[in-house]
Amino acid sequence: MARDGEIERIMETVIKPTKNGITTNLILYGDSGTGKTVTMRYLAREIRDPQVVYVNAIAYRYVKNVLIDFLSKFGIIVPERSSYASLFTRIEGLLRNQGKNVILVIDEAANILKGDYDGLYYLFRSKDSFDVNISTIFVVMEDPAILFDAKIRKSYGIFSEIKFRRYTKGEIYQIVMNRAVQSLTGEGYDEDVLDYIAEVSAEYGSARVGIDILAKAAHIAEYRRSPKISFDDVRAARSMISPFVTESKLASMDYEDLMVLLSICRCLSASRFTDVDCISRNLSVISEQYGKKDINLYDRIKRLENNGIISSSIEGQGRGEGVKKVISIYDIPVSVLTEKIENLLSA
Ligand SMILES: Nc1ncnc2c1ncn2[C@@H]1O[C@H](COP(=O)(O)OP(=O)(O)OP(=O)(O)O)[C@@H](O)[C@H]1O
Ligand SMILES: [Mg+2]
Repeated sequence: MARDGEIERIMETVIKPTKNGITTNLILYGDSGTGKTVTMRYLAREIRDPQVVYVNAIAYRYVKNVLIDFLSKFGIIVPERSSYASLFTRIEGLLRNQGKNVILVIDEAANILKGDYDGLYYLFRSKDSFDVNISTIFVVMEDPAILFDAKIRKSYGIFSEIKFRRYTKGEIYQIVMNRAVQSLTGEGYDEDVLDYIAEVSAEYGSARVGIDILAKAAHIAEYRRSPKISFDDVRAARSMISPFVTESKLASMDYEDLMVLLSICRCLSASRFTDVDCISRNLSVISEQYGKKDINLYDRIKRLENNGIISSSIEGQGRGEGVKKVISIYDIPVSVLTEKIENLLSA
């Protein structure tokens, strides 16, 4: 629903060429909740030739992990330590037996695209080196222009790009309505209330936000023992979501971003706001622990701000001592964030 145009373009750029033996690479990108994952899962389910294989790489840092996962979907279990040569030999054998071409969808691919240059090199050269004919669709939130610099772009070769734009209010309305029909009783909602949910979700352009608000509002109504969701239930639900800090947003950040964000969380655990001095002190402890050096703190803070995860303002220090930047987090308890980041860093 609401993604017919995008599906059509995916058909033209990857699916039809792959069926005809021409392998290509595509980056599909767009903000959180714009339907990237559902669309890919839909294609994996519906398209028979070529075969579309979906892998979620949220916990992976290397192409190798993805290939091992891919093989396991065909019942082929290989050791974690397999070399690229042996992995591609297995894949080549598998594809020969399949009798049709294969598209590998790598969802949540940001960590791999940003970090595993060697693995990507093998993947893109796999046709020449190992006679493996496989197309790849990488799914990420960031614009590829931010993800790769010009040099990397050049060495990776040509990629097609498709952007999933944010949903309009009308589209969110349709999606939320569908969900309500499936999961609520007929008298549980009015069209007016669904329209209001679409309206408050439209600023994020995210179907996930709309569906989340619907579920939470239904819960609140039930708690009030009311048979119907009210406008105020929607407002209460809206105040409960923190769409900026979703798990997938965290998962798409690299190690350095996560370490800086963790430093900020530590500084904020008992204070209202913090500053670069405190962050820098915590960062040196954390980077020791995780073995990374030379992090450009100012750059990273800027990125986190652009991401909407942290907020900053400039405070005067009085008596001509100038100004300094203070940093805060409003949307999510830092205890929750700390736990999530520590899990990701030790994954
Ligand atoms: N066109 C659609 N029709 C019906 N449901 C949709 C549609 N688009 C998204 N949804 C629903 O909205 C939620 C979020 O969609 P999805 O997980 O595909 O977003 P995403 O772009 O992958 O987000 P993220 O970048 O955070 O992973 C899911 O529950 C999904 O089922
Ligand atoms: Mg997704």
